[in-house]
Amino acid sequence: MEGEKNNNNWSGQLGFLLAAAGSSIGLGNIWRFPYMTGMNGGGAFVLLYILVVILIGVPLMMAEISLGRAAGANPVRAFSLMTPKKGVFTNLSASLLLLGAIVMLVTGNPSGAVIVAVIGAMFLLLGWKTVGFFCGIVPIILLSYYGVIGGWTLLYIVDSIRGLNDFTTIQGAENVMRPILYASGGWKWAVIIAQLGFMAACLGISLAGVRDGIERWSKMLMPLLFVLMCVLIVRGLTLPGAAKGLRFFLEPDFSKLTAGGVIAAVGQAFFTLSLGMGIMLTYGSYLNPQSNITKATLGVIGLDTLAAVMAGIAIFPAVFAMGFAPSGGPDLTFKVLPAAFNMIPGGMGVIWNVLFFLMLFIAALTSAISLIEPPASILVGELKFNRKAAVVIIVLLCSVIGVICALSMADWTNLPEFGKVIQKIWYGKAPGSFFDTLDSFCCNWILPMLGLATTIYVGWIWGSRNALKELREGDTGALDNNIWLLIAGFKAKDGGKDRRYIFTPGILWGFALRWICPVLVLLAFFNCIGVLKF
Ligand code: PHE
Repeated sequence: MEGEKNNNNWSGQLGFLLAAAGSSIGLGNIWRFPYMTGMNGGGAFVLLYILVVILIGVPLMMAEISLGRAAGANPVRAFSLMTPKKGVFTNLSASLLLLGAIVMLVTGNPSGAVIVAVIGAMFLLLGWKTVGFFCGIVPIILLSYYGVIGGWTLLYIVDSIRGLNDFTTIQGAENVMRPILYASGGWKWAVIIAQLGFMAACLGISLAGVRDGIERWSKMLMPLLFVLMCVLIVRGLTLPGAAKGLRFFLEPDFSKLTAGGVIAAVGQAFFTLSLGMGIMLTYGSYLNPQSNITKATLGVIGLDTLAAVMAGIAIFPAVFAMGFAPSGGPDLTFKVLPAAFNMIPGGMGVIWNVLFFLMLFIAALTSAISLIEPPASILVGELKFNRKAAVVIIVLLCSVIGVICALSMADWTNLPEFGKVIQKIWYGKAPGSFFDTLDSFCCNWILPMLGLATTIYVGWIWGSRNALKELREGDTGALDNNIWLLIAGFKAKDGGKDRRYIFTPGILWGFALRWICPVLVLLAFFNCIGVLKF
């Protein structure tokens, strides 16, 4: 089994908790969640999101971690160890995918048809291993463009300290943002160097190993992240006019809740909790059997949700107090917010900006290092690579793809020939950057598909009963206790050991995993790819 040498597993539950929280708390919490909340009904959306997290996030994360720990191996091995390699589901998926490929070919989408046909053929030949294989590929793609954003945060920090950034007006902030985001003119090299600097930081941490690298840095950086958030929150909330921002972010407006909001919440839960690409599975494989998976999962998800809400409270009061209108995504983070922080009275704008981008850098870094683990563990476990060599290869690969991403953010003038090929393959005639291509390929297509496959594998193929056995290792008996007794704070005397209750957290977990997760994930997937519009 992997993970027996000390540096290749967590020192204990706390190490796992902080590393997994580090993976999940990232750009998704800071630039995606706050804005999504503000636009989708404020507090009402937060409640909806928490419901979705309970229904999908908790069961799926427990499933991934238990599969990883039970297999004690990388995703490719984990997805073949528990059952026969192939079966009805894999054959059915293969047939549907091959059929889909034919339909795509006929409807004039040959490049899409090739991609779908390849995946179908893989299912046919490799069976469940296909899912594990994609857990090795998708993180590499994601890290390639995550590193670009990580580089921007570094550039903002360094240039703010050097006094190069003019955030005094919104136009000034736009003038800072545009050349960086679009890697234009003389900024091209700065953007590439910053992105490579970010990747070098990831490399340094990962090379030090699971315990001495990931765990040690997460234990230092995660508390620092929360301290920075608290400082920014106190500053934001003490500004005159802060209440308007809080109202935009949190005032519940149930009329704004739509079916589309539900689907947005599902997508957000997946992304922010780092689910559906074998990260929690790999992190689970480094976990010892005495650890309580249920508790650890609730801890990770609690911290992630707390961080998302805190980010909103840090951001919107400052934006509204300074009289700006909120916007979404990169615009909010890299333009409106710096301008707002800059205007905070007291002449300390630079400091607020540096603190904010430091927070964003830390959040991105601890997420980025988690993306290296699934592919690294596959290379080590399946292809017998030495861990250091595996990490170096992955980071190099991501850096190269990332540079292409950074250079082609705005348009393809930096790389015209390559641009023509990508445009043709992915977009037909519509314009789109390499960054968007990778983002939509991963987040809209592959993540929900892998998540769906994971729920089916753990819930139906390996079986919720076997998975529950794994979850019981290290559990205090809560999983088999009567849920009403638990909620009311009474513990059954036997600690639930005789399994006579039928309404237990363990049983509810199995139900959610087998029925609720697949349906909701499938709906979200159809919505993302435009088959169903909510
Ligand atoms: N969870 C991270 C975030 O919220 C993103 C991420 C997704 C990181 C998947 C790793 C894997 O930004």
